[in-house]
Amino acid sequence: MEYGLRGKTAIVTGASQGIGREIARSLHNEGVIVTLVGQTAARLEQTQRELRGAGDGAALHALVADLSLLGEVERVATDAIERMGHVDILINSAARTTYEAFFSMSDAEMQEAWQVKGLGYVRMVRAVAPHMMERRDGRIVNIVGTAARTPTADFIAGSMVNAALVNFTRGVSRELARHNVRINSISPGWTLTERLRRSIELRANAQREDVAAALQREARSIPTGRHVSMAEIANMTLLAVSDLCPSLTGEDIIIDGGATPSV
Ligand SMILES: NC(=O)c1ccc[n+]([C@@H]2O[C@H](COP(=O)([O-])OP(=O)(O)OC[C@H]3O[C@@H](n4cnc5c(N)ncnc54)[C@H](OP(=O)(O)O)[C@@H]3O)[C@@H](O)[C@H]2O)c1
Repeated sequence: MEYGLRGKTAIVTGASQGIGREIARSLHNEGVIVTLVGQTAARLEQTQRELRGAGDGAALHALVADLSLLGEVERVATDAIERMGHVDILINSAARTTYEAFFSMSDAEMQEAWQVKGLGYVRMVRAVAPHMMERRDGRIVNIVGTAARTPTADFIAGSMVNAALVNFTRGVSRELARHNVRINSISPGWTLTERLRRSIELRANAQREDVAAALQREARSIPTGRHVSMAEIANMTLLAVSDLCPSLTGEDIIIDGGATPSV
């Protein structure tokens, strides 16, 4: 499929691993100049090395930042605009996922979930969207999660943050649309990242279960019988930031193998 993205510029947060890295890879393969943002320098450098060279050699920048801090978000926006000249695309995918039973969860844990992902995404939009509005061109995708609509007891803080981010994406879309800036969220279900694979392994080992059997059992609990792949999320992101569906904005696109049907 021809997405028409060659020569565009993008910031991808949470790009050092998981879904963010896969999206950065796909954009780079399409010839997009990408600024990768992550918190752990060594992991980010490793990703930059791994991705470099594809996409006709389009430039690939890397910025280490803690996006839970306002000053760091603003620095990332300023540095990325300076390095790339302008920003066409913003992908928010940085988060620290923790599971905790509601009654043992502290205020500090609740606040951290909000600080990194909730405020992190909102602040990135606030820092980059005015620049897009001024240029009258921009596309933003927030990677959220199906817990926004279907919360679970061991993921209350994350679920609340996700619900707020879907609401934020919808709420701000009308104002951005007037300036030709589109914003959508993509909500993955169980997506087979290294982090998810590790947590399945840990659980299996604790229960003396075979890891492959545990993976299969989890996959069978999804109606399609398989985990969502990172590539699927990246493919949908390419579509959402392309001009193939120019009327798509303020939407939350669920990709979860049918695990959380809703209206
Ligand atoms: N995987 C799933 O099944 C799934 C399902 C639903 C929703 N989601 C959502 O999809 C998004 C991506 O998830 P993922 O599974 O790909 O996550 P992941 O593999 O754990 O990667 C998280 C990324 O966020 C970065 N990050 C974390 N805290 C940061 C901070 N304070 N400042 C800057 N960067 C920070 C990490 O950087 P370093 O590695 O450099 O530290 C890493 O690049 C998240 O919003 C998650 O909630 C995932």
